[in-house]
Amino acid sequence: MVDIHSHILPGLDDGADNFEEALVMAKIAVESGVTAITATPHCMEARTKEIREKILILRDMLQEADIPLKVCMGMEIFGTSYTSRLLREKKLITLNNSRYPLVEFSFTSSGEEETNILREMLWSGYIPIVAHPERYQFIRENPQLINEWAKMGCLFQINKGSLLGKFGRDVKKMADSLLKRGFAAAVASDAHSDEVRTPWMREVYDYISDNFSYDEANRLLNENPKRILKNENIPSVTPEWYR
Ligand SMILES: [Fe+2]
Repeated sequence: MVDIHSHILPGLDDGADNFEEALVMAKIAVESGVTAITATPHCMEARTKEIREKILILRDMLQEADIPLKVCMGMEIFGTSYTSRLLREKKLITLNNSRYPLVEFSFTSSGEEETNILREMLWSGYIPIVAHPERYQFIRENPQLINEWAKMGCLFQINKGSLLGKFGRDVKKMADSLLKRGFAAAVASDAHSDEVRTPWMREVYDYISDNFSYDEANRLLNENPKRILKNENIPSVTPEWYR
């Protein structure tokens, strides 16, 4: 499996506290069947240098500890009206430097600004991947926004914890619905630590295999994430639109 969303790099956000914890998280990922993980610390502004330095340290530690995990560079970009400009100025990092930026929004948003922010990113030549749309109340209350964003060309990444019910019943229902209707392009860990919200992915692989299909688990956890990191096209699926 390939995980495109994690907070494995220490000291940058609310993810791993130190490199020791990052190493344990890497072990957990590998033991659950993950071969590559993208470090996506929360970022509003450029922290490229810091991220690059920490990735190099983690890569060295993984090599020394003989842990076969590839670590790619990325960010979980907090979407604002400045985002597309910062992307064009190369001040933000997309997933493995592809055309795919991972974007999050405020959990308290009313949902009025986001469409414009995403549209400007698309106009700038990027394909936004909206992180965990199922977790936003404004989306659960108005799922037609998903139709609109999908028609614009956005992709959606669902959290494993949402599907496994860790964020409550409403979030799980929305996550299941996004998969069932064909809106999900990828499922990722959004791992924050080695104890709660971990990078253990086998459980969600089994969940999708059992409740959807083996092919779907493979598409969402392996094939599409690989394509994203290689900057390849994601084959489009015609979704069942929200009414
Ligand atoms: Fe995240």
